[in-house]
Amino acid sequence: MSQTQSSSADITSPAQTERKNVIFSGVQPTGNLHLGNYLGAIRNWVAQQNDFDCIYCVVDLHAITVPQDPQALRTSIREVTACLIASGIDPDQAVLFNQSSVPQHAELAWIFNCVARLGWLNRMTQFKEKAGKNRENATVGLYSYPTLMAADILAYKATHVPVGEDQKQHLELTRDIAAAFNSMYGADIFPLPEPQIQGVAARVMSLRDGSSKMSKSDPSDYTRINLTDSADEIAQKIKKAKTDPEPLPSEMAGLDDRPEARNLVGIYAALSGATNAEILSEFGGQGFGIFKPALVELAVSQIAPISEKMNRLLDDRAEIDRILKKGTEQARARAEPVLAEVKKIVGFLPE
Ligand code: TRP
Repeated sequence: MSQTQSSSADITSPAQTERKNVIFSGVQPTGNLHLGNYLGAIRNWVAQQNDFDCIYCVVDLHAITVPQDPQALRTSIREVTACLIASGIDPDQAVLFNQSSVPQHAELAWIFNCVARLGWLNRMTQFKEKAGKNRENATVGLYSYPTLMAADILAYKATHVPVGEDQKQHLELTRDIAAAFNSMYGADIFPLPEPQIQGVAARVMSLRDGSSKMSKSDPSDYTRINLTDSADEIAQKIKKAKTDPEPLPSEMAGLDDRPEARNLVGIYAALSGATNAEILSEFGGQGFGIFKPALVELAVSQIAPISEKMNRLLDDRAEIDRILKKGTEQARARAEPVLAEVKKIVGFLPE
């Protein structure tokens, strides 16, 4: 499916194109956020908050699609919130809240479960990967994860969704659900949200293996720079990052068979706001003895302040809870009328 136009063209409500831009994105509260999350997503969330109506959500309902320790989950929700704020999300500009506090997400997800088809969900590659060989034992929640994601987005009629490449298929499903709902009920209620796929330049790989993505689930902490790392830890990890004995080339083509070197150049470029080519024209001919200390200085100057601010915030749990509560109230105030509209369209009695 994935049509670009709602099939209810005969409805005389505002056209899709006249909608105001609303940006929605979500992050799971599981484990530490790292440099890949920062360069690939969070930094872009921060950049958009001045210019657009932005809603950012800590998706704790999604987290329990796989088993979680309740105490660890509580801690993670606060940590991820603190990390987003420390990275520059301003709760006075963007709406920042946790998903489980706004019941409209789960409510709309149920309605979407009755719109989405088994055939659509059966195609989701992330479920196949996450469920693995023991699919019979996966939770129903893991299977219907994408309908909850569609509800997150559409409860605010969001028009744009910044996500990584791995979530593109879920966004397509969201568009299919929006179009199917609009068409089933002959209502032009939902926009078909556009993915904003993060650039390949910002794809950050493991510091130990340039062919696998930097990941919070890698058993070795030396593969990633966490946003909670101190200046010393950041420096150690970059010093120990895998490289090769060759000097850096002055053209990108020279990095084709050197994934670790390419990754470090890409990180430097992303942190500095320059292109890979510009970085190579500066460092071409230099060895890692020169390049790594320069990268340490740049990474420490940008990442260490985030971990310092995050630690300060985490000392004041009540402040984090207060911020989330305010975000929750704002999110509810926006999702409630949308759910009232949906329930009326579906044929439920008014409250
Ligand atoms: N599934 C997303 C991820 O794992 C997180 C997410 C949940 C999300 N709901 C969302 C992202 C809505 C964008 C919009 O990265």
